[in-house]
Amino acid sequence: MTDARHLRSRLAGEVPPAWRDTFLAVPRHMFIPDTIWIRGDDNRPAPLRRADAPQAWLEACYADAPVAVQLDDGDGSGRGYVSSTASMPRVVAMMLEAADLAPGLRVLEVGTGTGYNAALLASLVGTRNVTTIEIDAGLAERARIALRRAGWPVETITGDGEEGHPAGAPYDRILATAAVQTVPHAWVEQTRPGGLVVTPFGTAFHSGALLHLLVHDDATASGRFGGDTAFMWTRAQRTPHGVVEDRVLPEHDYAETTTDLHPYEPMGDFDASFAIGVRVPGMKSTLVYDDDDPGTQRYTVYLMDPTTGSWTSWRITPQAPAYRVCQHGPRRLFDELAAAYEWWRDLGRPAHDRFGLTVTASGQRLWMDDPANTVG
Ligand SMILES: C[S@@+](CC[C@H](N)C(=O)[O-])C[C@H]1O[C@@H](n2cnc3c(N)ncnc32)[C@H](O)[C@@H]1O
Repeated sequence: MTDARHLRSRLAGEVPPAWRDTFLAVPRHMFIPDTIWIRGDDNRPAPLRRADAPQAWLEACYADAPVAVQLDDGDGSGRGYVSSTASMPRVVAMMLEAADLAPGLRVLEVGTGTGYNAALLASLVGTRNVTTIEIDAGLAERARIALRRAGWPVETITGDGEEGHPAGAPYDRILATAAVQTVPHAWVEQTRPGGLVVTPFGTAFHSGALLHLLVHDDATASGRFGGDTAFMWTRAQRTPHGVVEDRVLPEHDYAETTTDLHPYEPMGDFDASFAIGVRVPGMKSTLVYDDDDPGTQRYTVYLMDPTTGSWTSWRITPQAPAYRVCQHGPRRLFDELAAAYEWWRDLGRPAHDRFGLTVTASGQRLWMDDPANTVG
């Protein structure tokens, strides 16, 4: 049996050298619950219990991979939605790097989860300088206990982190480990001027990138995107789920056209789909292979807006001279997508890190290269 110490040093070898000591200092397995969720044979989450498979459990704790620790907000409904994970260590290191931490800085972490990242933060800035907030009471209590046992008794608040934690403000850093589509202005208000807000940011269309915001004197903040970080959403910012069968109904009428645009162009390119996502709010995409077989190369892309009930089907078959597009509902989702793709091409196909966001009390706006150059 490979022991935890050995596995911890192996994991520390997988993060950038500057972060090795930090990852060596914190035993990740002390934060992972005895039951975790792995992908089962039917692709649905299956439990992996420490008592049944101690070595597999320990290996999972020290893999450079996210560890699913809660399904369905803990409601026992069996839907199989992963609602909390210990994030992937390499991504955690990237976020710690972006937060530009130093001993003594005061940090609010949004999304305690297991408490592992709070312990890493505590080891970097000092336990008394870290506050962490988790919306799920059960997870918060588990993390509180784990943090105490592991020797970093970080203040762990149960609450909605989108409101920050005003009692501890101002912070030098707010670090979110759940993604947003709209940056809560409370985070800007509760960070001192010159401080940073670091958060995964995405859209219903694109899983997202890391956003680094510098807070200004006038309670606004601005900064660029950089880095591929797909995180779960804060609870209030999830786009509703739903399967195609529930949204695309036989009685629906639709308008039919054809296109020579292949989905790979707007959707297979990280930078294109990142930018498009900002222009097509609330639009989700799902790819359904014929016969559930990715080998067939025959599939349909569905674009859906759960709020208005609009949908598009975009049928792809190899060697077809053009692809059939059917659009239903008040939003012509394919037309919006194609227009957003053209907009991105007209901008010169910018990489996602040329975009930035400014957050004010009245909302957020997207810019390119310079905050004065609004493009969103
Ligand atoms: C990816 S996990 C965080 C991982 C965590 N930092 C760790 O080290 O284990 C995201 C967490 O954010 C929590 N969350 C979602 N919405 C939240 C909100 N509005 N306020 C606080 N926590 C939230 C989820 O319950 C989940 O536990």
